[in-house]
Amino acid sequence: MKNQSPYYKAIGKEVEVFEQTYASKIPFLLKGPTGTGKSRFIEFIAHKLNKKLITISCHEETSSTDLIGRYIIKGAETVWLDGPLTTAVKEGAIIYLDEIAEARPDVIVAIHSLTDHRRELFIDKLGETIKAHEDFMLVASFNPGYQKGFKELKPSTRQRFIAVSFAYPKATLEAEILVNETGIDANTAKKLVNIATKIRNLTELGLTETVSTRLLVDAAKLIHNGLPKRLSVEVAIVEPLTDDLEVIEALKDLCNLMI
Ligand SMILES: Nc1ncnc2c1ncn2[C@@H]1O[C@H](COP(=O)(O)OP(=O)(O)OP(=O)(O)O)[C@@H](O)[C@H]1O
Ligand SMILES: [Mg+2]
Repeated sequence: MKNQSPYYKAIGKEVEVFEQTYASKIPFLLKGPTGTGKSRFIEFIAHKLNKKLITISCHEETSSTDLIGRYIIKGAETVWLDGPLTTAVKEGAIIYLDEIAEARPDVIVAIHSLTDHRRELFIDKLGETIKAHEDFMLVASFNPGYQKGFKELKPSTRQRFIAVSFAYPKATLEAEILVNETGIDANTAKKLVNIATKIRNLTELGLTETVSTRLLVDAAKLIHNGLPKRLSVEVAIVEPLTDDLEVIEALKDLCNLMI
């Protein structure tokens, strides 16, 4: 039985663009702030194309060895163990390198030959070069707005990808997502989206990241489960955004008026 498709509401032409990018065997870069549906999109599209998806959350310790593979000791022997990237290259899966800019520089070096016309992976520890399977695709995400430890992607890396920006959906679509994701009523969904729109426009608060669709979904879930609306908004939207007590108070007042 084919399992159910993850729910994803298209915001623009990202589905068509991805399908053409896949057919053209070009890597794909998802750009955008936290909670804008990047991960959900890739789960949805992998399901739609009926491809296996391997996701790696990159962090500052992620090295090429983690992705490509390593020798491990098994009893009296050392055996080679393929890493997730090597597995994806061999099996023709989609590999999703989430937050690729966070990874160590050797990861970027390792993917360069995979992300141009060569489509091959060099496994230095084995002295082997493997050609990518027909169906293999490399997808990466990147949050250009990260404040702390801001990391950029080099042009020589960026320009190997087709890139699509993910942003917050327009109000009607976002409300529809809340209803679909949580079962909340349309009226409350609309109010939550109005709160988000208001806070997103309050640039003077100096928030580093603003209300994401994810936070709205969380608030909607709490409300749908019976937690009072004001409390839900406070703990799901206001508190995760900032630790500045004055800003918290100001946002709470604003939300109380709007929910
Ligand atoms: N277009 C969309 N269709 C359906 N659900 C969405 C959409 N956009 C956001 N969501 C909801 O928002 C939640 C967060 O989205 P997701 O985890 O994909 O964000 P992300 O962009 O990957 O964030 P991060 O950069 O933090 O990893 C999802 O679990 C889903 O409930
Ligand atoms: Mg994600």
